[in-house]
Amino acid sequence: MKKIIPTILFLLNLTLIAQQNQLFIPPVLTGTNINLNLQNGTYQFFPGQITQTMGVNGDILGPTLILNQGDYVNFNVHNQLSDDTTIHWHGMHVSAANDGGPHTVIAAGATWTPSFTIMDKAATYWYHPHLHTKTDLHVSKGIAGLIIVKDAEEAALDLPRTYSVDDIPLVIQTKAFDNNNQIVNHANSDTVVMVNATIAPFVEVPAQVVRFRILNGSSQRVFNLGLSNNENFYLITTDGGLLNTTLQTTRLQMAPGERAEILIDLNGRENQILFLKSFASELQNGIYGATSPGMNPNMTMNGYNPNSLNGNDFNILQINITAQNSNPVTNIPATLANDIPLDESTANITRTLTFSPQNMGMNQLNGNFFINNSSFDMNVINYSIPLNNVEIWQLQNQSAIAHPFHIHDVQFYILDRNGNPPPATEQGRKDVVLVKPMETVRFITKFEDFADDTVPYMYHCHMLTHEDGGMMGQFVVQSSNTVKENQSFDLNIFPNPASNIVSIQSEKPVTKIRLMNMTGQKVFEQNFDFKKKMDINFSKTGIYLMEIYAGDTKIIKKLIVK
Ligand code: C2O
Ligand code: CU
Ligand code: CU
Repeated sequence: MKKIIPTILFLLNLTLIAQQNQLFIPPVLTGTNINLNLQNGTYQFFPGQITQTMGVNGDILGPTLILNQGDYVNFNVHNQLSDDTTIHWHGMHVSAANDGGPHTVIAAGATWTPSFTIMDKAATYWYHPHLHTKTDLHVSKGIAGLIIVKDAEEAALDLPRTYSVDDIPLVIQTKAFDNNNQIVNHANSDTVVMVNATIAPFVEVPAQVVRFRILNGSSQRVFNLGLSNNENFYLITTDGGLLNTTLQTTRLQMAPGERAEILIDLNGRENQILFLKSFASELQNGIYGATSPGMNPNMTMNGYNPNSLNGNDFNILQINITAQNSNPVTNIPATLANDIPLDESTANITRTLTFSPQNMGMNQLNGNFFINNSSFDMNVINYSIPLNNVEIWQLQNQSAIAHPFHIHDVQFYILDRNGNPPPATEQGRKDVVLVKPMETVRFITKFEDFADDTVPYMYHCHMLTHEDGGMMGQFVVQSSNTVKENQSFDLNIFPNPASNIVSIQSEKPVTKIRLMNMTGQKVFEQNFDFKKKMDINFSKTGIYLMEIYAGDTKIIKKLIVK
């Protein structure tokens, strides 16, 4: 008898593990030349069943891009799908022309070649298609990838950062499938939970501090993340950067589009098993994922029920803890960054955006949603924002369902929710905020660096059904003196075209020189003391706009470097 008991336990344990599939880890692409091929594929989500998919450099999802702040990166995005699409760098601060919104279509068969300097803070961002009315189709079919930005501030911290060893990417999604195991988009029957396209996944991690980079890449579903046994974990980043101090918590609500990096302390836990779960039973009604997606439980949504995920707790990832490795991080750092939020008193304007249902009343969850009573129109610019404006956006949700609001170009700071400070988990840099039914959320942000009179940036609900249904608007950021030769003092730049050294001779003392490339990105900036003549050494060829400042006067010259 004594021998039988351990054997049974062993078998039980094996069965538990055998039900799980090893978590797929997307490969890494890094450096300053990134090639992305968007392609059709097939994938076995269910053993032996072929599902038609879309992926980047593969059948499903896309490689994780690891980019360094300050690097100038060239992308080749080759569209090998049989459909037009776009690729948007969600959360990243890039010019409108490089942003990959719905105006920057990559036709089937074509290649798009944006290039830009990585200006973002260390955090986890992502890329995904953004073709108007087809975003959900292309994302649901599989196109989504993570972007890890590294910077010096993050590098100085003792954090886990060995990809796939103690730094684990988690793209959490739910998808809907039809009876032939094909992915259905614009559907509320998303009963299948997956991480990195793996259903019922397990991951092996060492018994030390482990970092998880989490994206809610679902089309609609909100997760209420936590660990089995309500264990503590530690939030270190929000969407667009490190928090100033590590935040211990047992729950993290994540809406579609949101990212977070968390640490879990697994010291001394070898051979134990832990689950990352969604405690969806705790979601309040009026959130997609709760028992009722509308704040009034009598409101129904087509196809939402029955669905075993709605309002119920479920497992997302099984974490199998193995031996500590040879170079472990064993402590949770207490302090992280020194990020100073924008102050409310610096705002130039408050804009109010009201969300409302197209169908009033009890059937509203089955219709589209408006922002300020209108639906997205490719030909209408909703806001023209002066470059360098600091703005408060007041989001008023007058509908019965929570909307994850997202804005391109910027990171923002949440000022308040219904007049109260946001929870600690939302006090960092953000680009998505879940606005609950009948709630008013205010955030503050600054529109800096990139101006373009014609190519707009988007703001929208990140429930992709709502976005595709027109819950989106667009804005341009305008510089008062873009490409104007407003010469008001004598100035010579020579030679021009130049080979690499340019001399500037000025009547007035030059205080600053800034160089913009033709897509409006700043490639160089330097402040000067008084000098009547100076030489600048350029290493890169191209056509630039050189902005020469003498105090508050500015001259813009076109400069060609050969
Ligand atoms: Cu993640 Cu406008 O998108
Ligand atoms: Cu975005
Ligand atoms: Cu919405």
